[in-house]
Amino acid sequence: MERQTIKLKTIIVIFISIALISLQSCYKDNEEELYPGGDNCNTENVSFSQTIMPIFTNNCVGCHSGAGASAGIKLTNHTEIVAAIDGGRLVGAISHQSGFSAMPQGAPKLSDCAISQIEAWIVLGKNNN
Ligand code: HEC
Repeated sequence: MERQTIKLKTIIVIFISIALISLQSCYKDNEEELYPGGDNCNTENVSFSQTIMPIFTNNCVGCHSGAGASAGIKLTNHTEIVAAIDGGRLVGAISHQSGFSAMPQGAPKLSDCAISQIEAWIVLGKNNN
């Protein structure tokens, strides 16, 4: 009698574990479909100073600043970044579209989230916020 109870408990525990694991994978699938930028990628109310400028500072400014800026494109502040976007070469370069030089040069592509945030910030009006 005692043994059977233990067996039953074990079976219940295993069953619940399997149910939880499968529920979790379902949850992940849905999240990826809902948020193409990846988990926890916030593309709402994107702030220039908090989100956009750091992406450029960390990935682009090393080559795109000062008198010898690559391709004559400077990316060190809001005005310069807006000018580069309006020049029509920036979005194609960071999203590695054909006909553009892939940026950042010699380094891995920006994360899907960073690219989504830049695109969202452009759609929101390229605010200096
Ligand atoms: C290691 C140096 C380096 C880094 C880092 C770098 N660039 Fe560049 N970039 C270049 C050079 C060199 C060119 C010009 C030569 C070319 O087009 O391949 C260029 C060209 C460009 C162009 C013009 C592309 C075109 O097809 O007309 C854009 C826009 C650009 N970079 C944006 C960026 C952005 C945005 C980043 C950061 C995500 C970045 N770059 C990071 C070196 C760099």
